Amino acid sequence: MPVLLHEVIEGLQIFPSGIYVDCTFGGGGHSKKILEKLNDTGKLIVFDQDEDAKKNVPDDPHILFVPQNFRHLKRFLRLHQVFSVNGILADLGVSSHQINEAERGFSTRFDAAMDMRMSRNNPKTAAHVVQTYSEEMLQKIFEKYGEVTNSKTLAHHIVEARKLKPIETIKEFRNAIFPVVKGNPQKYLAQVFQALRIEVNDELNVLKELLLQSVEVLIPGGRIAVITFHSLEDRLVKNFFKNGNFEPEQQQDIFGNRVKSELKVITKKPIVPSKEEQEQNPRSRSSKLRIAEKI
Ligand SMILES: C[S@@+](CC[C@H](N)C(=O)[O-])C[C@H]1O[C@@H](n2cnc3c(N)ncnc32)[C@H](O)[C@@H]1O
Repeated sequence: MPVLLHEVIEGLQIFPSGIYVDCTFGGGGHSKKILEKLNDTGKLIVFDQDEDAKKNVPDDPHILFVPQNFRHLKRFLRLHQVFSVNGILADLGVSSHQINEAERGFSTRFDAAMDMRMSRNNPKTAAHVVQTYSEEMLQKIFEKYGEVTNSKTLAHHIVEARKLKPIETIKEFRNAIFPVVKGNPQKYLAQVFQALRIEVNDELNVLKELLLQSVEVLIPGGRIAVITFHSLEDRLVKNFFKNGNFEPEQQQDIFGNRVKSELKVITKKPIVPSKEEQEQNPRSRSSKLRIAEKI
Protein backbone atom coordinates (compact mmCIF):
# COMPACT_ATOMS: atom_id res chain seq x y z
CA MET A 1 0.00 0.00 0.00
CA PRO A 2 1.81 3.16 -1.14
CA VAL A 3 2.27 5.76 1.58
CA LEU A 4 0.78 9.26 1.14
CA LEU A 5 -0.16 8.38 -2.42
CA HIS A 6 -2.66 11.14 -3.05
CA GLU A 7 -0.38 13.77 -1.46
CA VAL A 8 2.62 12.66 -3.54
CA ILE A 9 0.72 12.74 -6.82
CA GLU A 10 -0.82 16.10 -6.07
CA GLY A 11 2.52 17.48 -4.88
CA LEU A 12 4.40 16.44 -8.01
CA GLN A 13 1.93 18.34 -10.23
CA ILE A 14 2.40 15.83 -13.02
CA PHE A 15 2.74 17.21 -16.51
CA PRO A 16 1.32 14.50 -18.84
CA SER A 17 4.13 14.57 -21.39
CA GLY A 18 6.89 15.00 -18.82
CA ILE A 19 9.73 12.75 -17.71
CA TYR A 20 9.49 11.49 -14.13
CA VAL A 21 11.78 9.44 -11.93
CA ASP A 22 10.66 7.12 -9.15
CA CYS A 23 13.92 6.47 -7.31
CA THR A 24 12.42 3.76 -5.09
CA PHE A 25 10.15 1.65 -7.27
CA GLY A 26 9.54 -1.21 -4.77
CA GLY A 27 6.07 -2.63 -5.32
CA GLY A 28 5.38 0.08 -7.88
CA GLY A 29 2.41 1.63 -6.07
CA HIS A 30 3.40 5.26 -6.59
CA SER A 31 4.71 4.55 -10.08
CA LYS A 32 1.39 3.05 -11.14
CA LYS A 33 -0.39 6.31 -10.29
CA ILE A 34 2.27 8.42 -12.01
CA LEU A 35 1.94 6.29 -15.16
CA GLU A 36 -1.81 6.85 -15.17
CA LYS A 37 -1.20 10.60 -15.32
CA LEU A 38 1.19 10.42 -18.30
CA ASN A 39 0.18 10.62 -21.94
CA ASP A 40 1.82 8.86 -24.86
CA THR A 41 4.92 11.04 -24.86
CA GLY A 42 5.39 10.93 -21.09
CA LYS A 43 8.10 8.75 -19.58
CA LEU A 44 8.73 7.18 -16.19
CA ILE A 45 12.18 5.97 -15.19
CA VAL A 46 12.20 3.82 -12.09
CA PHE A 47 15.19 2.87 -9.94
CA ASP A 48 15.47 0.10 -7.40
CA GLN A 49 18.69 -1.41 -6.15
CA ASP A 50 16.80 -4.59 -5.33
CA GLU A 51 16.58 -6.61 -8.53
CA ASP A 52 13.55 -8.41 -7.08
CA ALA A 53 11.55 -5.23 -7.71
CA LYS A 54 11.77 -5.96 -11.43
CA LYS A 55 8.96 -8.48 -11.20
CA ASN A 56 6.60 -5.63 -10.22
CA VAL A 57 7.33 -3.56 -13.32
CA PRO A 58 4.22 -3.35 -15.50
CA ASP A 59 4.36 -4.15 -19.17
CA ASP A 60 4.14 -0.57 -20.38
CA PRO A 61 6.29 1.11 -23.03
CA HIS A 62 6.44 4.33 -20.98
CA ILE A 63 8.31 2.81 -18.06
CA LEU A 64 12.00 1.98 -17.83
CA PHE A 65 13.43 -0.02 -14.92
CA VAL A 66 16.97 0.75 -13.79
CA PRO A 67 18.22 -1.87 -11.29
CA GLN A 68 20.67 0.49 -9.60
CA ASN A 69 21.20 2.49 -6.48
CA PHE A 70 19.69 5.97 -6.85
CA ARG A 71 23.02 7.39 -5.73
CA HIS A 72 23.90 6.95 -9.42
CA LEU A 73 20.83 8.85 -10.62
CA LYS A 74 22.56 11.26 -12.96
CA ARG A 75 24.87 8.64 -14.45
CA PHE A 76 22.10 6.22 -15.36
CA LEU A 77 19.77 8.92 -16.64
CA ARG A 78 22.57 10.05 -18.93
CA LEU A 79 23.12 6.46 -20.06
CA HIS A 80 19.50 6.45 -21.19
CA GLN A 81 19.89 9.81 -22.93
CA VAL A 82 17.93 11.67 -20.28
CA PHE A 83 19.50 14.97 -19.22
CA SER A 84 16.66 16.69 -17.40
CA VAL A 85 13.44 15.59 -15.76
CA ASN A 86 10.14 17.14 -14.64
CA GLY A 87 9.82 15.40 -11.31
CA ILE A 88 11.51 13.06 -8.87
CA LEU A 89 10.06 10.87 -6.14
CA ALA A 90 11.88 8.99 -3.38
CA ASP A 91 9.95 6.88 -0.88
CA LEU A 92 12.83 5.83 1.32
CA GLY A 93 13.49 2.74 3.36
CA VAL A 94 12.57 -0.87 2.81
CA SER A 95 9.46 -2.21 1.12
CA SER A 96 6.89 -4.52 2.71
CA HIS A 97 8.11 -7.20 0.28
CA GLN A 98 11.59 -6.95 1.75
CA ILE A 99 10.41 -6.84 5.37
CA ASN A 100 8.12 -9.83 4.94
CA GLU A 101 10.77 -12.03 3.37
CA ALA A 102 12.46 -13.77 6.31
CA GLU A 103 15.77 -14.43 4.55
CA ARG A 104 16.36 -10.73 3.82
CA GLY A 105 17.00 -10.34 7.54
CA PHE A 106 15.18 -6.99 8.00
CA SER A 107 12.54 -8.12 10.44
CA THR A 108 12.97 -8.97 14.10
CA ARG A 109 9.94 -11.28 13.72
CA PHE A 110 11.90 -14.00 11.95
CA ASP A 111 15.04 -15.96 12.48
CA ALA A 112 17.36 -15.73 9.49
CA ALA A 113 20.88 -14.62 8.64
CA MET A 114 21.67 -11.04 9.71
CA ASP A 115 21.57 -9.72 6.15
CA MET A 116 19.63 -6.41 5.80
CA ARG A 117 21.02 -5.61 2.36
CA MET A 118 18.59 -3.94 -0.02
CA SER A 119 20.85 -4.94 -2.89
CA ARG A 120 22.39 -8.40 -3.06
CA ASN A 121 25.37 -6.84 -4.82
CA ASN A 122 26.28 -5.04 -1.63
CA PRO A 123 29.17 -6.98 -0.05
CA LYS A 124 28.39 -5.66 3.45
CA THR A 125 25.78 -7.56 5.49
CA ALA A 126 24.57 -6.80 9.02
CA ALA A 127 26.42 -9.93 10.20
CA HIS A 128 29.63 -8.46 8.76
CA VAL A 129 29.06 -5.22 10.70
CA VAL A 130 28.29 -7.06 13.95
CA GLN A 131 31.19 -9.50 13.56
CA THR A 132 33.96 -7.20 12.37
CA TYR A 133 33.38 -3.57 13.39
CA SER A 134 35.37 -2.20 16.31
CA GLU A 135 33.64 -1.44 19.59
CA GLU A 136 33.97 2.31 18.90
CA MET A 137 32.43 2.02 15.46
CA LEU A 138 29.55 -0.10 16.72
CA GLN A 139 28.90 2.39 19.50
CA LYS A 140 28.82 5.31 17.07
CA ILE A 141 26.40 3.51 14.77
CA PHE A 142 24.00 2.57 17.57
CA GLU A 143 24.13 6.06 19.03
CA LYS A 144 23.93 8.05 15.80
CA TYR A 145 21.66 5.92 13.64
CA GLY A 146 19.51 4.23 16.29
CA GLU A 147 19.59 6.75 19.15
CA VAL A 148 20.17 3.75 21.42
CA THR A 149 20.58 5.17 24.94
CA ASN A 150 23.09 2.56 26.18
CA SER A 151 25.04 2.33 22.92
CA LYS A 152 28.37 2.04 24.74
CA THR A 153 27.23 -0.89 26.89
CA LEU A 154 25.63 -2.55 23.86
CA ALA A 155 28.74 -2.22 21.69
CA HIS A 156 30.98 -3.53 24.47
CA HIS A 157 28.63 -6.44 25.10
CA ILE A 158 28.54 -7.42 21.40
CA VAL A 159 32.33 -7.39 21.16
CA GLU A 160 32.61 -9.63 24.24
CA ALA A 161 29.83 -11.97 23.04
CA ARG A 162 31.30 -12.47 19.57
CA LYS A 163 34.62 -13.57 21.11
CA LEU A 164 32.78 -16.55 22.59
CA LYS A 165 30.58 -17.41 19.60
CA PRO A 166 30.07 -15.84 16.18
CA ILE A 167 26.83 -13.82 15.80
CA GLU A 168 25.40 -14.60 12.39
CA THR A 169 21.64 -14.97 12.74
CA ILE A 170 18.90 -12.77 14.15
CA LYS A 171 18.25 -15.30 16.91
CA GLU A 172 21.93 -15.40 17.86
CA PHE A 173 21.98 -11.61 17.87
CA ARG A 174 18.85 -11.33 20.01
CA ASN A 175 20.20 -13.86 22.49
CA ALA A 176 23.58 -12.16 22.59
CA ILE A 177 22.22 -8.69 23.37
CA PHE A 178 19.42 -9.90 25.68
CA PRO A 179 21.25 -8.99 28.95
CA VAL A 180 21.69 -5.31 27.94
CA VAL A 181 18.25 -4.59 26.41
CA LYS A 182 16.80 -1.45 28.02
CA GLY A 183 13.12 -0.53 28.24
CA ASN A 184 10.60 -2.06 25.84
CA PRO A 185 12.49 -4.94 24.13
CA GLN A 186 10.58 -4.59 20.84
CA LYS A 187 11.30 -0.88 20.63
CA TYR A 188 14.91 -1.37 21.65
CA LEU A 189 15.45 -4.04 19.04
CA ALA A 190 13.79 -1.89 16.38
CA GLN A 191 16.22 0.96 17.13
CA VAL A 192 19.21 -1.38 17.01
CA PHE A 193 18.01 -2.90 13.73
CA GLN A 194 17.41 0.54 12.24
CA ALA A 195 20.99 1.50 13.08
CA LEU A 196 22.42 -1.63 11.46
CA ARG A 197 20.24 -1.22 8.38
CA ILE A 198 21.34 2.39 7.89
CA GLU A 199 24.98 1.34 8.15
CA VAL A 200 24.64 -1.68 5.85
CA ASN A 201 22.90 0.31 3.12
CA ASP A 202 24.76 3.58 3.73
CA GLU A 203 21.35 5.19 3.79
CA LEU A 204 22.27 8.72 4.82
CA ASN A 205 25.05 9.12 2.27
CA VAL A 206 22.98 7.77 -0.62
CA LEU A 207 20.22 10.23 0.27
CA LYS A 208 22.69 13.13 0.28
CA GLU A 209 24.02 12.08 -3.11
CA LEU A 210 20.50 11.81 -4.49
CA LEU A 211 19.49 15.26 -3.25
CA LEU A 212 22.62 16.90 -4.69
CA GLN A 213 22.05 15.29 -8.09
CA SER A 214 18.34 15.96 -8.14
CA VAL A 215 18.81 19.74 -8.38
CA GLU A 216 21.13 19.17 -11.31
CA VAL A 217 18.61 17.15 -13.31
CA LEU A 218 15.33 18.88 -12.43
CA ILE A 219 14.09 21.47 -14.91
CA PRO A 220 13.08 24.86 -13.46
CA GLY A 221 9.58 24.38 -12.06
CA GLY A 222 10.22 20.63 -11.70
CA ARG A 223 9.40 19.10 -8.35
CA ILE A 224 10.96 16.66 -5.95
CA ALA A 225 8.98 14.73 -3.34
CA VAL A 226 10.71 12.74 -0.60
CA ILE A 227 9.06 10.47 1.96
CA THR A 228 11.23 9.71 4.99
CA PHE A 229 10.69 7.36 7.90
CA HIS A 230 13.03 8.67 10.56
CA SER A 231 14.29 12.00 11.80
CA LEU A 232 17.87 11.58 10.53
CA GLU A 233 16.64 11.40 6.95
CA ASP A 234 13.96 14.03 7.42
CA ARG A 235 16.53 16.50 8.78
CA LEU A 236 18.74 16.04 5.71
CA VAL A 237 15.82 16.63 3.34
CA LYS A 238 14.53 19.62 5.31
CA ASN A 239 17.93 21.32 5.47
CA PHE A 240 18.75 20.62 1.86
CA PHE A 241 15.46 21.95 0.53
CA LYS A 242 15.76 25.09 2.65
CA ASN A 243 19.48 25.84 2.64
CA GLY A 244 20.96 23.93 -0.29
CA ASN A 245 23.21 22.00 2.08
CA PHE A 246 22.81 19.51 4.89
CA GLU A 247 23.36 21.95 7.74
CA PRO A 248 20.61 23.76 9.62
CA GLU A 249 21.97 27.13 8.44
CA GLN A 250 22.75 28.62 5.04
CA GLN A 251 26.46 28.43 4.20
CA GLN A 252 28.71 31.14 2.77
CA ASP A 253 30.97 30.92 -0.26
CA ILE A 254 34.63 32.04 -0.15
CA PHE A 255 33.53 35.66 -0.78
CA GLY A 256 31.19 35.62 2.20
CA ASN A 257 28.04 35.50 0.07
CA ARG A 258 25.24 33.30 1.26
CA VAL A 259 24.83 30.18 -0.86
CA LYS A 260 21.12 29.90 -1.52
CA SER A 261 19.12 26.77 -2.12
CA GLU A 262 18.20 26.11 -5.74
CA LEU A 263 14.86 24.86 -4.49
CA LYS A 264 11.71 26.56 -3.30
CA VAL A 265 10.16 24.77 -0.35
CA ILE A 266 6.54 23.83 -1.10
CA THR A 267 5.81 22.10 2.19
CA LYS A 268 6.84 24.45 5.02
CA LYS A 269 5.83 21.67 7.41
CA PRO A 270 6.10 18.01 6.37
CA ILE A 271 2.92 16.30 5.24
CA VAL A 272 2.05 13.36 7.49
CA PRO A 273 -0.52 10.62 6.92
CA SER A 274 -4.08 11.09 8.12
CA LYS A 275 -5.39 9.09 11.06
CA GLU A 276 -7.31 6.87 8.64
CA GLU A 277 -4.20 6.14 6.59
CA GLN A 278 -2.22 5.36 9.74
CA GLU A 279 -4.91 2.93 10.85
CA GLN A 280 -5.18 1.29 7.44
CA ASN A 281 -1.45 1.15 6.87
CA PRO A 282 0.64 1.02 10.06
CA ARG A 283 3.84 1.31 8.00
CA SER A 284 2.81 4.88 7.15
CA ARG A 285 2.89 5.96 10.80
CA SER A 286 6.32 7.51 10.95
CA SER A 287 6.32 8.86 7.38
CA LYS A 288 6.90 12.48 6.46
CA LEU A 289 6.59 13.95 3.00
CA ARG A 290 8.47 17.06 1.90
CA ILE A 291 8.16 18.66 -1.51
CA ALA A 292 10.29 21.32 -3.19
CA GLU A 293 10.42 22.98 -6.60
CA LYS A 294 13.49 23.80 -8.67
CA ILE A 295 13.83 27.56 -9.06
C1 LIG B 1 9.51 1.98 0.69
S1 LIG B 1 9.89 1.06 -0.71
C2 LIG B 1 9.09 1.90 -2.01
C3 LIG B 1 7.68 1.53 -2.21
C4 LIG B 1 7.05 2.11 -3.45
N1 LIG B 1 6.98 3.55 -3.41
C5 LIG B 1 5.70 1.51 -3.71
O1 LIG B 1 4.73 2.28 -3.87
O2 LIG B 1 5.60 0.30 -3.80
C6 LIG B 1 11.55 1.46 -0.99
C7 LIG B 1 12.21 0.75 -2.14
O3 LIG B 1 13.32 1.52 -2.53
C8 LIG B 1 14.44 0.72 -2.69
N2 LIG B 1 15.59 1.53 -2.31
C9 LIG B 1 15.88 2.01 -1.09
N3 LIG B 1 17.03 2.70 -1.13
C10 LIG B 1 17.45 2.68 -2.42
C11 LIG B 1 18.57 3.21 -3.09
N4 LIG B 1 19.51 3.90 -2.46
N5 LIG B 1 18.66 3.01 -4.43
C12 LIG B 1 17.73 2.31 -5.10
N6 LIG B 1 16.66 1.74 -4.51
C13 LIG B 1 16.52 1.93 -3.17
C14 LIG B 1 14.24 -0.48 -1.81
O4 LIG B 1 14.92 -1.60 -2.35
C15 LIG B 1 12.71 -0.64 -1.82
O5 LIG B 1 12.31 -1.54 -2.81
